[in-house]
Amino acid sequence: MDSPTDQAPADKVVTDTSPQVETPGGTPPGAKPAPPKTPLTAAAARPVAKPGAVVESTPDPPVNKMRRRIIWSAIAASLVAYFLMFLRFFLPRSILEPSSTFRIGSPGDYALGVDTKWQQQYRIWVTKTSDRLFVIYAVCTHLGCTPDWKASENKFKCPCHGSGYDSEGVNFEGPAPRPMDRAHVELDAEGQIQVDLARLYAWPKGEANKFDEKGAYIPL
Ligand code: FES
Repeated sequence: MDSPTDQAPADKVVTDTSPQVETPGGTPPGAKPAPPKTPLTAAAARPVAKPGAVVESTPDPPVNKMRRRIIWSAIAASLVAYFLMFLRFFLPRSILEPSSTFRIGSPGDYALGVDTKWQQQYRIWVTKTSDRLFVIYAVCTHLGCTPDWKASENKFKCPCHGSGYDSEGVNFEGPAPRPMDRAHVELDAEGQIQVDLARLYAWPKGEANKFDEKGAYIPL
């Protein structure tokens, strides 16, 4: 008896069941297949302008315009700042310093005693007695602190180390070595008191008193 294999018909055609790969026409069998077609890139897809032809460019997105505007604004601001700093270098700084000379009203504006209304602005006190008006420079002669006027005690008291001065700025307690200085004063053409802090009258320890010199007070 014949086995099934022996019964295979002699005229059986063996067919290739593997998937058929289409090749372009004219491609010889066995040749390397061409790469699949891919979409053209943006650059490749861009139409090539013919010489002399007008090419329309795509409009710039608003966000790009905004970014460029911000960057250029920042650059312009930096340049302006540098330019102003450059100009400032050539300006004399003395112009910005407060003047040492100023007016504080007329003698009639002050009552007898100590007036502290100019302490914050000019660091001075105005003292008026029965026969003169003078200006005390509010700087402690120990180490330069600003004393406080104690009206109830009729004296200046330095908060730093306790020096005490009477109402005319003469030291009487604490480490202060001498009275506080007085500023130059004079009446101008309008009868106003002109003060000059660049010209001070001192009473150095063991030396002559300069408080009676001309310009150290205004006679009343
Ligand atoms: S600074 Fe005024 S007592 Fe020292």
